This record gives sequence, C-alpha cells and structure tokens, in this order.
Amino acid sequence: MSETLEQQADTVMTRCDELARCSDDADGITRLFLSSAMQKAHKRVRGWMEAAELQTHVDDAGNVIGRTKTAIDRAVVLGSHLDSVPGGGRYDGVLGVLIALAVAEQLGDESLPFRLDVIGFSEEEGVRYRMPYLGSAARMGRFDPEWLDRTDAEDLSMREAMRRFGLDAEKIDEAAYASDEVIAYIEPHLEQGPMLENANRPLGVVSGIAGQTRIQLEFIGTAGHAGTTPMLGRSDALAMAAQLVTDVNSIGRQTKGLRATVGQLSVSPNAPNVIPQRVQMSLDVRHVDDLVRERALNDMLAAGRQIAKTAYGKFAVREQVSQTAVAMDDGLSDILTDAARDCGHEPLQLFSGAGHDAVVVAKKFPAAMLFLRHPGGVSHHPDERVLRDDVAAAIEVMCQLVRKLAAKHEPKQVGTQSQ
Ligand code: GLV
Ligand code: MN
Ligand code: MN
Repeated sequence: MSETLEQQADTVMTRCDELARCSDDADGITRLFLSSAMQKAHKRVRGWMEAAELQTHVDDAGNVIGRTKTAIDRAVVLGSHLDSVPGGGRYDGVLGVLIALAVAEQLGDESLPFRLDVIGFSEEEGVRYRMPYLGSAARMGRFDPEWLDRTDAEDLSMREAMRRFGLDAEKIDEAAYASDEVIAYIEPHLEQGPMLENANRPLGVVSGIAGQTRIQLEFIGTAGHAGTTPMLGRSDALAMAAQLVTDVNSIGRQTKGLRATVGQLSVSPNAPNVIPQRVQMSLDVRHVDDLVRERALNDMLAAGRQIAKTAYGKFAVREQVSQTAVAMDDGLSDILTDAARDCGHEPLQLFSGAGHDAVVVAKKFPAAMLFLRHPGGVSHHPDERVLRDDVAAAIEVMCQLVRKLAAKHEPKQVGTQSQ
C-alpha cells in the first residue's frame, strides 16, 4: 500500500536533510558540479530511486536519472537540480528532485502510457565553471564541447573534472533526449521569494523565467607600495571596481524590476601593503524584459569604461553568458493549474526571477514549473525553508498532473466506437 501524502512529504523533508549533509563544506551546504559532495548525493539519490523500483543511471554530463521500467520510449520528465551554491540552502533544486521521486513512489504500479523519468540535473547554478544549466543543456542536445576547456578556480578543466568523476566527456552527446522523446517536463521548486507567502497560497504556477546575463569583468591598474605611492595619480584596480559595484547597485535600484549583483571579486596581488593591480569581478543582471536588461547592462559597461579612463586604468569584459527570458508552455501550465484546482488549491501565477533548468528544457519540449511557498523567502542561504504540508500538496498536485497527462496521451482504442 502506498504511503499517505503526509508520510511521503515527511520522507521528502528527511531526504532533503540527508542530502544537506552531502556537502564539501563542513559548516554549510556546498555541493558544486562534479564534486565529491555530489558523488555522495548521487549514491543516496540512486539508492532511493532503486528502492522505488526505478532503473537508474548517471549520464556523461553527471545527471542522475531514475526511470520507470517500461518499454515505452516516450517520457514525462519530472525533477530539478542537485547542485547548490556555496553556503546554500537545503531545498533549492533538491526539493524538486525529491518531490519528483515521491510522485514516482506514489504512483507506484499505476499503468501510464509513458515512461516517468525522475531527473536530478548535475549543474544548474553555474558556480564552478561560471556557466549555468550544463546538465540540462546536455539532456537537450545543446552542450557545446568548447565548454569542456573552461577552467574552475583551481585551474582544473571541466574535461578533467569529468574524467575524475568517472564520466566520459566524449559521450556527452549520448545524454541528449531524442527530439520526440519528451512529452512534458515539470519542475517543482521552492519559490525563493515572498510572493506566495504574501498571498497566503501554498502553490504557484510559473508563467515565465527572467532573462539573465553573467559577465566576468576586469580592471587593470598599477601595483605599487602602499606607503610610498602618493594618493594622487594612483591607478588602484580595487578602487575602480568598488566604484563600479556602487554604480551597478544604483542602476539596479533605479530600474524597475531589475536585479543587478556583483557577487565575486578576485584581487591581485591581494596583499595589505600593495596597491591592487588587477581585479576580476562578476556581474549578474536579470529582468523579465530582455531590452531593459540589455540597456542596463550597456549602462554598467559604459560606467566601467569611464571609471577606468578617469583612474588611468584599463577595463575589459572577459566572459559573457546570456539567456533571454523564457515563457513556460501555456497548455502544460493550464493542465498544471487544473490539477492544482482539482486538489483544492488556487495557484498564484507568477514570474520567476531565479533561473531554472526549465529555461533550457523549454526551448525543446513543453515545460512547466510548480512553485512552493517559501516562508521567509530567503534563498541561496542556509535559512531556506518549506512547510511539510505544502510539500504534501505539491506531491498531490504533481500526481494529479501526471494522471491528467496520462488521460490525454492514452492510446485511442481501435474498433470500439459506439453506434
Ligand atoms: C539559480 O539559482 C540562479 O537563478 O542563479
Ligand atoms: Mn534552483
Ligand atoms: Mn539556485
């Protein structure tokens, strides 16, 4: 007999706690792409999947997949990502994977006209190689082999990190779903914001996901002695970067709906008594309207150039990754909304400021997202929270959605027309 929804939600919460212990940081949660913490997480997730009678494998992009044992080759894919930001929370990504698994457990032996794939994407955050959605890109056949030469902070190439993880980078192409293989992708995810809590609703259906640009910038000044170099005429790369951080923040505040963040600085030579010669800094800019994002970004880059000119330095854009805003599939989102209503919930429709694997999946297959209320709304932070009853509601709605998709895709009976 299948467990009650409450028991299943308790199991999801306990599993989130268990995965939170799969961390490369003893005091917090840090589980980057291809890390040893991720190896530990894979072991647990595959164990739970196998206990649920799913057939598991890890593809050559490091995604974990548990699929129902059937010869049917078309799939409904449910899941999210297993990586975290450094010092992250216990629910971002992981919650969606474990709700997807709970759905497969709950549906048990129900006969479905498609395969169910529960997926834990390997890399959504884009922290280690400064590029998000690597796992979903591989599954969608959009993994660019040139990315394999990118290096991490320790100068380790992605190709080598994959080899050490036990993956074969030459076979990443084989991870891709065939062009007609996926009927629908549905990603449950913590809202990571306050909208559902403010509206007093447990669940939301996402209409679209904001576009984002991530850039690596560099200021170059002139190193010198901190005690003997006069202040006037210095070319201090960190002073330049600090000015740009302030400009980014004020452009962010002045532009409605814009999100602009400098989250990473690397200073060289990074010594207390040497004028900084070089600063590398990240810049993350997001907006639901791509034109607004692009305009704001241009203003920030113009500010960077002007700051460098005034301070006798140089300014360069080293790397740029952009994604346009993406709409979720209307038809699938309507079915998800109906499924929520069937279960007694009126979901809020909302836009996502955070990025998700659904961004990449939506370019190839119908994709939808179910958001769960996030008490406190603080994310990418150890204070992430979710309510057990909201998890139970999400499992129920996801099961109902799968049943609705099953009814829609049931093969038509031949020769049984009524007179
Ligand atoms: C992923 O969580 C992102 O939006 O940065
Ligand atoms: Mn996420
Ligand atoms: Mn995240």
